[in-house]
Amino acid sequence: MKIPTPADGIAWVTGASSGIGRELAVQLAKEGWIVAVSARLVADLQSLSDGHPGQMIVAPLDVTDQTGVMAAVQKIEAESGRAIVRAVLNAGTYIRDTAPDFDVATFKMQVDVNLLGTANCLAAVMPAMLAARRGQIAIVSSLAGLAGLPGAVTYSTTKAGLLAMAQSLKFDLDRANVALSVILPGFVKTPLTEKNKFPMPFLMAVADAAKAILEGLDNGRFLIAFPGGLAWPLRFLRILPAPLYFALVARSTKW
Ligand SMILES: NC(=O)c1ccc[n+]([C@@H]2O[C@H](COP(=O)([O-])OP(=O)(O)OC[C@H]3O[C@@H](n4cnc5c(N)ncnc54)[C@H](OP(=O)(O)O)[C@@H]3O)[C@@H](O)[C@H]2O)c1
Repeated sequence: MKIPTPADGIAWVTGASSGIGRELAVQLAKEGWIVAVSARLVADLQSLSDGHPGQMIVAPLDVTDQTGVMAAVQKIEAESGRAIVRAVLNAGTYIRDTAPDFDVATFKMQVDVNLLGTANCLAAVMPAMLAARRGQIAIVSSLAGLAGLPGAVTYSTTKAGLLAMAQSLKFDLDRANVALSVILPGFVKTPLTEKNKFPMPFLMAVADAAKAILEGLDNGRFLIAFPGGLAWPLRFLRILPAPLYFALVARSTKW
């Protein structure tokens, strides 16, 4: 399967106003890509674009607005005159929740952004890639999607959903010659994790996280999980019998 390059078309990054998405846009531009950058905060997208004249297209949107997402993608392609061939569906949100503070409104909000928002973005780019039999889609899940983790009742739910979604899509996209990756980051230093009061093992710099993602995408890897020090233990834990899984995770997260 051919992995797209900047010669084939443009890249699109959602959640590009801060954190991982912003850094990904910067590193993609360094690789020579024209990058369409999307999120809600227009000023932050504009400042990113201002730092990379001629290399970025500001395309504000709210991923929960299906019509708005579709319109933004059409506008990006119409104005640039080029097709999106690498789409990184990264926009996401995280609110810590546990059984005692479980709240349906908070649950719905995270499902709306993380799951339905990703679905809206997928629906905006996938049909053209299937028809053209080329392109690359990356879905940003999380190591928290590998197994239900404490304090992540909703977040783990949404990220596990994205992982399953990617696994299912892979069969069809392989047949259509469209590359697909699912990205499972561990803890990365961004505004999303700033509010965490618990220890974050193997916390990574955002530049290192973006580099790991781009290496994985350029090599066409399906599962891009990092850092290894956290990814491997979690991948191992999820195959353990349930009593062992709960005992080990409870012990290592008793802060
Ligand atoms: N940081 C970590 O440790 C970590 C670990 C695993 C996975 N992840 C995942 O990585 C992705 C990026 O996270 P981050 O750490 O870089 O967080 P971040 O700095 O908070 O960035 C989140 C991005 O998503 C955008 N976004 C949120 N809601 C949106 C909406 N309704 N419509 C459009 N854009 C929206 C935000 O932009 P606006 O507010 O401008 O809309 C922002 O650009 C998320 O999917 C997150 O779950 C992060």
